[in-house]
Amino acid sequence: MITNTELEYKGNLYPNQIIDFKQDTDKLYFTTENGVILQITVMRNSTIRFRYATGHTFEPDFSYAVSEDASRGYNRLEVTETDNEYYIETTRVKILVDKASLRIQISDLEGNIFNEDEIGFHWEENYEYGGNTVKMSKITQTGESFYGMGDKATHLNLKGKRVNNWVTDQYAYGKDQDPLYKAIPFYIGLHQNKAYGIFFDNTFRSYFDFAHERRNVTSFWADGGEMNYYFFFGPDISKVVRLYTDLTGTPELPPLWALGYHQSKWSYFPESRVKEIAKQFRELRIPCDAIYLDIDYMDGFRCFTWDKDHFPEPKRMMKELKEDGFKTVVMIDPGIKIDKDYWVYQEAMEKGYFCRRGDGPYMHGKVWPGECNFPDFTNPDVRAWWAELYKEFMAEMGVDAVWNDMNEPAVMEVPSKTAPLDTRHNFDGHPCTHRKAHNVYGMQMVRATYEGVKKYVYPKRPFVITRAAFAGTQRYSSTWTGDNVATWEHLWIANVQMQRMCMSGYSFVGSDIGGFAEQPNGELFARWVQLGVFHPFCRVHSSGDHGDQEPWSFGTEVTDIVRKFIELRYQLLPYLYTMFYQYTTHGIPMLQSLVYYDQEDSQTHFRTDEFIFGDHILVCPVQEPNAQGRRMYIPRGKWYDFWTEEVIVGGKEKWVAADLDKMPLFIKEGAIIPKYPVQQYVGEVQIEELVLDLYYKEGVELSSVYEDSQEGFDYTQGKYSLRKFKLIGKPKELIIQQHKDGAFITPYESFKFNFHGLPFKISGIEIDNEKVALKDLKINGNNSLIVDKNFTELHIVGK
Ligand code: NOJ
Repeated sequence: MITNTELEYKGNLYPNQIIDFKQDTDKLYFTTENGVILQITVMRNSTIRFRYATGHTFEPDFSYAVSEDASRGYNRLEVTETDNEYYIETTRVKILVDKASLRIQISDLEGNIFNEDEIGFHWEENYEYGGNTVKMSKITQTGESFYGMGDKATHLNLKGKRVNNWVTDQYAYGKDQDPLYKAIPFYIGLHQNKAYGIFFDNTFRSYFDFAHERRNVTSFWADGGEMNYYFFFGPDISKVVRLYTDLTGTPELPPLWALGYHQSKWSYFPESRVKEIAKQFRELRIPCDAIYLDIDYMDGFRCFTWDKDHFPEPKRMMKELKEDGFKTVVMIDPGIKIDKDYWVYQEAMEKGYFCRRGDGPYMHGKVWPGECNFPDFTNPDVRAWWAELYKEFMAEMGVDAVWNDMNEPAVMEVPSKTAPLDTRHNFDGHPCTHRKAHNVYGMQMVRATYEGVKKYVYPKRPFVITRAAFAGTQRYSSTWTGDNVATWEHLWIANVQMQRMCMSGYSFVGSDIGGFAEQPNGELFARWVQLGVFHPFCRVHSSGDHGDQEPWSFGTEVTDIVRKFIELRYQLLPYLYTMFYQYTTHGIPMLQSLVYYDQEDSQTHFRTDEFIFGDHILVCPVQEPNAQGRRMYIPRGKWYDFWTEEVIVGGKEKWVAADLDKMPLFIKEGAIIPKYPVQQYVGEVQIEELVLDLYYKEGVELSSVYEDSQEGFDYTQGKYSLRKFKLIGKPKELIIQQHKDGAFITPYESFKFNFHGLPFKISGIEIDNEKVALKDLKINGNNSLIVDKNFTELHIVGK
């Protein structure tokens, strides 16, 4: 333990004796003799906020991360006092505040310590910039593991690592390189099978040390702002993630096409090339829903303009693409070319919307168009103006969706890669420098984009993509993991990043499939597509200067494999859409790392490769060349090998065969997996029957299928269909109960069950308590059965 004298010696200041305590409903204030105030807010029974002020003064309370829709309210809040401590209790947690040091300890009601301060809050005055460097140190518990933190390209378990958050344009980043494009200062701690979470809501550059510098200490600190963090009580990781996601918000449902396969490259131009790509997809019958236009569609890289030589009639082109089932997604960057004849520049100049440096001049920097100025997206007026710029693109020309790139903001040819730190920002009425606004700049840009796109694609749903993100950005936009590289190591990184993002409340995420920089060979490309179809956002993108990266660029064997996996994604669309629904409504991550799935199995704590897609599909990419399979861990429970239907009892490692046309996939027993027919694009085919792949289990398992009109906002008014299936398997019997919620009438009226692993021969069937003669049914032995009505209970007996 560090002594106070040592702390002083290091220039740190720290709270001393509590001399005053006050309660204001859900807020408790503890003031120390040397002017530190700890404000504890009970947000929910399991979500507690801790804020520290020095010099008796709090900063105005403002957060970009916390959602307006975050739940509030608790059932119990009791404060008691002894000679040396205060105790605060909710229905879930007990917080001890030490009177002599302001240190806290958080435990469950049985007294199991979840988290405790080492030094706790301490700070250093920052003489160069003003404000404090605010610090927090916690005791690392025995055997503690750490997860979360957004896009860090390192082992899923962060134990022993130090990371920092400063959104950065990190072209061709490497494993362990840090920081990258996202700043999500949220982590999960797990020890004694009990989990908690901490979200440090501070936008300055922040640092997290997970027992790296000192084995028994976990600490986090920031270059300014407040020590302001939220504690989430588990004890399940799933609960922690749900609480964090509730606090920082979830997106609306995307249009279903956004979950299809997307094709991108830097860049497809001119129009004839775009058309050729679209045509190839249809000719080769490889499903695809969207084509991306990177910066070269613009006139001299000026946002909101078109290069008329390459795209003489963009409106017509996009209309024709739409007729063929393709959506067009265009890029918009934050840098506005300094060009007095360019209307966007003129408008921003007239309105005073560009960022200025500390002493007044405009901040400028080089990006694709040359010297640019940068709108201050932290100003609400600028956001409103920016949103309007999308009117012509979306409402008049027919652009379907937008990706925001370079919004860290990335600036070329300067060592910092971004805006100078003295650049000033409005920060929604809390003026500050770039040190505070940097991490949210991209978030506020994409927020404005989202507002504009949403307004002008109405009554359709907006779809937006961003590169830079801070905690909470998931409310506005999907994201991708930036400029990766076509290497096997990057396939590993992509797998970890997606899982980590999902555990950090940000599920709508994907990587540049195949790698952005450099050229994959066919094998790497195929393996990456196999993984990519199990990521929420599924897009091939590449820098384009190394050769082609379309599904047909690597010969017919690879094309066939890629088609097969993209087709699988399209079949699984109702399953994927249901995952999305669970994410938006309940904050359930779309991908579940094994530790999330089964934290009580300590084997899972250091696994990185395997994950659960939704609730029921276990996925494990092949991450090495020339592999005919791989060893992997099968979590506890029984799983069906997707390819062979062999039933595996989990809780062990296993060699799984997977030639290039396969990847290890397992279905949890008892699952009912909904499927649509393969379509070349979402909406191509009218769904006439819902396929339900049923994997028999002796016991009970729940599955669900969420559907709606796949576009528009009717679903928010109750026009959705949520089918909940309960499977009850007995040795010679199978019961499937269905309960449907919502007013949406699905276009199909029949269900096709495909049975997997049925242990008996079907001898009788009752549908809603009525016996139906087998000869009157469309039944194919023990393999499949078509039920022509919206049944409530299907009862299958066997012999
Ligand atoms: C950087 C982005 O990360 C990449 O995806 C894009 O292709 C280039 N900028 C060019 O716009």
